[in-house]
Amino acid sequence: MRQDPRFPKLFIIDHPLIQHKLSHMRDRTTSTRTFRELLREITLLMGYEITRDLPLTTRAIDTPLEPMDAPVIAGKKVAIVPVLRAGLGMADGLLELIPSAREGHIGLYRGEDNRPVEYYVRLPEPERRLFIVCDPMLATGYSALHAVQMLIDRGVAPDAIRYLALVAAPEGVQVFQDAHPQVPVYVAALDARLNDDAYIVPGLGDAGDRIFGTK
Ligand code: URA
Repeated sequence: MRQDPRFPKLFIIDHPLIQHKLSHMRDRTTSTRTFRELLREITLLMGYEITRDLPLTTRAIDTPLEPMDAPVIAGKKVAIVPVLRAGLGMADGLLELIPSAREGHIGLYRGEDNRPVEYYVRLPEPERRLFIVCDPMLATGYSALHAVQMLIDRGVAPDAIRYLALVAAPEGVQVFQDAHPQVPVYVAALDARLNDDAYIVPGLGDAGDRIFGTK
């Protein structure tokens, strides 16, 4: 895991397997099927890293040889919240890793000036849950900060939220961390910049279109 001195809460998960798979995803000739599969695989690897500090407790069990107090996750409930629609491609990988997690959905589209407009929100109760918000492309940062603000407005504590993306632009990370300095952001790559259409460069194009095979 690497950090960038500009962004104290940005964590770049630069594992070689993740970098290798991401390069295939960036390639414009990669098929929809392979793109989807790689996104799921990368999310599994990233999910493993971002859940590394989940608290453990022990449970008494009997192995075939003798009793032992075996480590198990300490009842921390997890909620996965993909931002529609591209976030769905990451939610699958996270659910495979944490099958008992609840899943919420936040639907946003880009309105005027690339500002997010809400069209669907359904979330689990905050309780004592850890919320993992996922969306592959952290571009302008507006949707990311809006999605996290929606959780906070519904009573989720900022320190119970983690934001998971695949590729980020520095402009978006700055916007996000100015708004939510307590919320860690995990990415596989921090790219160079945004272009005039608010796409990440070099990026991988439109993640939603590439996941779902649309244009
Ligand atoms: N959304 C995408 O899918 N790709 C980008 O580069 C930026 C936003």
